[in-house]
Order: sequence, then structure tokens, then C-alpha cells
Amino acid sequence: MPKVYSGDLTKMFDISGKKAMIFGGAGGFGKAIAEGYAANGCSVCISSRSEAKLQEAVKDIEKVAAPGVKVMYIAGDAADEEFVKKAVEVVTGPDGIGGCDILVNAQGINKKMWSWEIDTDFFKKMLDTNITSLMLTCKHFGNWMKSNNIEGAEKIEESAFEHGKANPNQGYGKIINFGSVRGIRAVANGGNGNVPYNTTKGAVEMLTKAYAADLRPNIQVNAIGPTITYTPMMVGLLPPDEKVRNGIAGALPAQRIGYEIDVVGPAIFLGSAASDMVTATTIYPDGGLVATS
Ligand SMILES: NC(=O)c1ccc[n+]([C@@H]2O[C@H](COP(=O)([O-])OP(=O)(O)OC[C@H]3O[C@@H](n4cnc5c(N)ncnc54)[C@H](OP(=O)(O)O)[C@@H]3O)[C@@H](O)[C@H]2O)c1
Repeated sequence: MPKVYSGDLTKMFDISGKKAMIFGGAGGFGKAIAEGYAANGCSVCISSRSEAKLQEAVKDIEKVAAPGVKVMYIAGDAADEEFVKKAVEVVTGPDGIGGCDILVNAQGINKKMWSWEIDTDFFKKMLDTNITSLMLTCKHFGNWMKSNNIEGAEKIEESAFEHGKANPNQGYGKIINFGSVRGIRAVANGGNGNVPYNTTKGAVEMLTKAYAADLRPNIQVNAIGPTITYTPMMVGLLPPDEKVRNGIAGALPAQRIGYEIDVVGPAIFLGSAASDMVTATTIYPDGGLVATS
């Protein structure tokens, strides 16, 4: 049966005891979410390519982790299907965090290139990192969730569905993909040279909706679409001075650009039972950018 929350009203946002896999987990947004999850009692495995950055990030996450929380990492390229398969095995196994309730896809790369001089090889690399890797992690962690997160769930008979082939799997889970305001908005402050990046982020919007349809009913798949934020990805692309950076967003309701912490609340909501009826959509922690500019 599709799940409906009927528990303690004070526990709707509770993620304690859960297990989260966070790709891009040593980066700006990924690490902020890992810290937010671990502080709230959720065990985390972070992943990206640089082992040294992962080791540093694990130290920071452990400092804020609630008692009993396990923090670990696995290094590899999320665009490599063999690595993603191995990650499922390791992370959900006895040497990992023992399961996966929440998958976060916070990996990504960005390079501005004027449309008339796009480097085709780099364009393909951006597609691999920003979209193919999401397909791979949603596929393999989604499959794992469908078949393994079944405690207390009732089997759904295919005959219960009128149209097409139903997904009879009862497994539950939460998947959170990183889109961007640039997934639905072509031009903004500094919006030039964004054909490759915007293309990948537009694809994240639709990949998210289509996975939500396929993984129904108990795996919710949503996206977070932040506004520009001074994470390591944006060093060199945004002015180094904080006041100047926030000045870029002076006309917006929030009167500042994003900070890494801004995505943590949405990620806790989307990782918790409070969002059980929220699926196939995007939350924009954008300070009002999409609606007002
Ligand atoms: N910052 C912004 O203004 C902004 C705004 C909207 C959306 N976003 C999106 O938010 C997400 C997180 O970005 P961020 O700003 O936190 O950037 P970040 O600090 O650069 O973090 C990105 C992470 O992705 C990892 N990564 C890159 N390629 C990878 C691959 N092939 N396999 C596995 N991991 C890979 C990087 O580590 P390694 O290089 O070690 O692999 C890094 O840890 C991205 O999807 C980005 O597009 C960012």
C-alpha cells in the first residue's frame, strides 16, 4: 500500500536512525547536508573522486555528529556504473552503514562557455557528471530501496493498477537530486555562457519527475534547486568579497545570494516522513529569485 504517515506528530521531521548516501558529499552542499543529517542522528556515507577531500570532510562531519551515528566515505566516479554498483554493495553491507533510506545526488561540475565556442568534450563530461551519474545512482540505489526497504510494507498487486505495467515493489526511500535555478531559467545575473550547465540542470528536473513516476509509490524523488552560492564550485566564478557577492542579489527578496546551510532544511524535509506526499517536484531555496526576477 502507498504509505500515509500516522505516527507521532512531533517526529515527522525525525531522521534519526536513518541511513543516507550522499554523492558529492565532500563538496559545499553535499558536506553541509551530511553535517545536518549526522547532527540529527542519521548515519552518512559521503562519496566523490578525491579521497583526500573525503577524509577531511569526514573529520568535520564527525565533529557535529550525534552519538551513535556512523560517518564513512567511499571514493570513486559516480559516472562509472561499476563504481556505483560497488558503492551499493559496500554502503548497504556490514562494512558500510547497513542500508540506504536517503540518496542525495550533490555531485556536479560547472564551466561557463559561450555558446559559439562550446568545448564538445567538456560538454559531454558535464552531461556525464551532472546527469548520467544521477541516472546511475537513482537506478542502482533505487533498485536496492525497492527490494530491501520493505519492513512493514504490504505487497502491491499489479492488478491494483488500471493502466500499464504497475511497479509492484513496495520498497520505500527518499531520493534528492541537485538541480538549480538554472534548470528552469536561462538568463539571470551572470547568466551568460550557461548553455552546457543549464542543459544538464534542465535534464535533472525531468529525470527527477520521471524517476518519481517509475519508483512509485513509496520512493519519493525530488530535487533541490539552489540559487548561486559561494561553494568551492563557484570560486573563481563569483567575486571573492562577500559583500560584493551579496550585492549581485540586492534586488531579490532575500537580498543575498545562497549559503551552503540554505539547502540543509529542505534536505531534512525531503529526507523525512514530513514529505511523504511530496514527489516529482523541486524545492528552490533561492531567496525568491525564480519568482521575482
Ligand atoms: N554552488 C552553486 O551556486 C550551485 C547552485 C545551484 C546548484 N548547484 C549544484 O549543487 C550541486 C553541488 O554543488 P556545489 O556547489 O556543492 O559544488 P562543489 O563544492 O564543487 O561540490 C561538488 C562535488 O561533486 C564532486 N564530483 C564532481 N564530479 C564527480 C564525479 N564524476 N563523481 C563523483 N563526485 C563528483 C566533487 O568532488 P571531486 O571533484 O573530488 O569528485 C565535489 O565534492 C551540484 O550539482 C551543482 O551543480 C550549485
